[in-house]
Amino acid sequence: MTTGHTCAVAGIAARFLQLRQRTLELCAGLSAEDLQLQSMPDASPGKWHLAHTSWFFEQFVLGRDPAYRPRDPAWHYLFNSYYQSVGPMHARPQRGLLSRPSLDEVRDYRRRIDDAVAELLDRGDDAEAPGLVELGLQHEQQHQELLLTDIKHAFWCNPLQPAYRAPIAAPADAKAVPLQFVAGREGIAEIGHRGEGFAFDNETPRHRTLLQPHALANRLVTNAEYLAFVREGGYREPGLWLSDGWATLQREG
Ligand SMILES: [Fe+2]
Repeated sequence: MTTGHTCAVAGIAARFLQLRQRTLELCAGLSAEDLQLQSMPDASPGKWHLAHTSWFFEQFVLGRDPAYRPRDPAWHYLFNSYYQSVGPMHARPQRGLLSRPSLDEVRDYRRRIDDAVAELLDRGDDAEAPGLVELGLQHEQQHQELLLTDIKHAFWCNPLQPAYRAPIAAPADAKAVPLQFVAGREGIAEIGHRGEGFAFDNETPRHRTLLQPHALANRLVTNAEYLAFVREGGYREPGLWLSDGWATLQREG
């Protein structure tokens, strides 16, 4: 093993522990009840996210070793999300019904997986492991985003309006810059991943595409602008909506 390789492996080992810890930090203010909630079929309980991201490392990193013994073989069915190639899975809309395993058991599962992956990276005898762990960390970060969107939706469903965390006061001088539309580039452009860093397979191969004339705003829409849109009848004018959005509006009032 070269020195450069050793450094790269040490780097991924440190990032592994740091990003796995970050997921737990995102749950720090949440109770076991909060982490059990599934507010709609498209969302998942926080506990499921904690388990599924661990399962990913168990399935795609640790499980490559024929001698590896999973924490509980039955959990594979619960925490596989949609990887048909590795077997059937529990129905997503029913993830909120999984009161077992408990949150404590899932936390214990995470620790076991963390220890086993850290040990694998430390041994340094599996050349494919660092790349697979990197994939697992990108997956972990996707689920960190999902965990936040899902718990925020779950809290939104509660008439008590619990907050995920205390609001950060906007600075007194918060003022949006004037809205402008900035013309984008036209013509043939190259898109897709370039270079040596991590990319998902759907970001490759790099290829050419035709950019039509277009313009983008120089900033996000403000709440004040959105309120003005509502007050000026934006929700009564079908011409401003795509058909799916308009149908949802009619259906849900
Ligand atoms: Fe996933």
